[in-house]
Amino acid sequence: MASTRLKYLSLSVLVFQTTSLVLTMRYSRTLQADGPRYLASSAVVVAEVMKIFTCVLLVFKEHSYSMRALNSILRQEILHKPVETLKLAIPSGIYTLQNNLLYVALSNLDAATYQVTYQLKILTTALFSVSMLGRRLGVYQWLSLLILMAGVALVQWPSESAVTPEKEAPSAGSQFVGVTAVLVACCSSGFAGVYFEKILKESKQSVWVRNIQLGMFGFVFGLFGMLAYDGERVRESGMFQGYNTVTWTVVALQALGGLVIAAVIKYADNILKGFATSLSIILSTLISYFWLQDFDPTGVFFVGAILVIVATFLYGYEGKPTPNPSRA
Ligand code: C5P
Repeated sequence: MASTRLKYLSLSVLVFQTTSLVLTMRYSRTLQADGPRYLASSAVVVAEVMKIFTCVLLVFKEHSYSMRALNSILRQEILHKPVETLKLAIPSGIYTLQNNLLYVALSNLDAATYQVTYQLKILTTALFSVSMLGRRLGVYQWLSLLILMAGVALVQWPSESAVTPEKEAPSAGSQFVGVTAVLVACCSSGFAGVYFEKILKESKQSVWVRNIQLGMFGFVFGLFGMLAYDGERVRESGMFQGYNTVTWTVVALQALGGLVIAAVIKYADNILKGFATSLSIILSTLISYFWLQDFDPTGVFFVGAILVIVATFLYGYEGKPTPNPSRA
């Protein structure tokens, strides 16, 4: 019962985190910045540090705030098990690659095409869950995943007012590069998520220790990325140039995202994570309409939103009669 509570708690926190992150990012874009813009590569490194720090605190709490226990668990699990630790370099490296691919995609595609195509990750995640974890999905569940994908695609379909005529349409060549980058990112997102789920569910080790291992590699890869892309600017004005309260909020929400995704993968699964993020896309769009008034929902949006909600219920419908041990 406690695990069912944790499952829904982690899924709800993910909806809250994704919604707040989207809204804060939108809000930060409407703000007039008067200094240099913060470096995205530095934000990635800072978010990794925040994640590691929080996970260390959570492990500390798990061991009744004993410094000795914390010290010994970190030594035993991280330093003395280099092979286990190295296993986490795989999802971490793939996530780093994925974050860069999405950057390539966004530079070559318009935001709507990017977001709509990226929803294919719902299907790649299901395919990897079936092939790597042996999960069995019924006909209704496959159908609900297709409906979910179509629904999110419609929700993110650009409205006519959002099309900016002055912006040049991307060339066929860059469209190809962009779509290829998103398709590879869909595969990497599905694979890395399911690989991390496999590691978590195959061992009894605390999810927070696993996240420290993942974060350590994320930090190293991120640091290399920052020095390679923005080394010159970091030497000139430091890695915290352009940081303001909104930047810190975005970075903290991103770090929280990593922690919540880990909890969702542990207590629920990667497929349910897709439903939670899809619902939060609808929620953030509606809040943005009522609060920021920067969005005009169209009929297509409502059809998409209804499809996402129908898909969510349909997925749970067949999930109950055939209990699946890995979904507990
Ligand atoms: O698009 P997708 O759902 O694959 O994105 C997952 C994101 O969550 C990645 O940016 C990855 O860096 C992050 N993540 C994390 N910690 C985890 C799992 C994923 O920070 N344990």
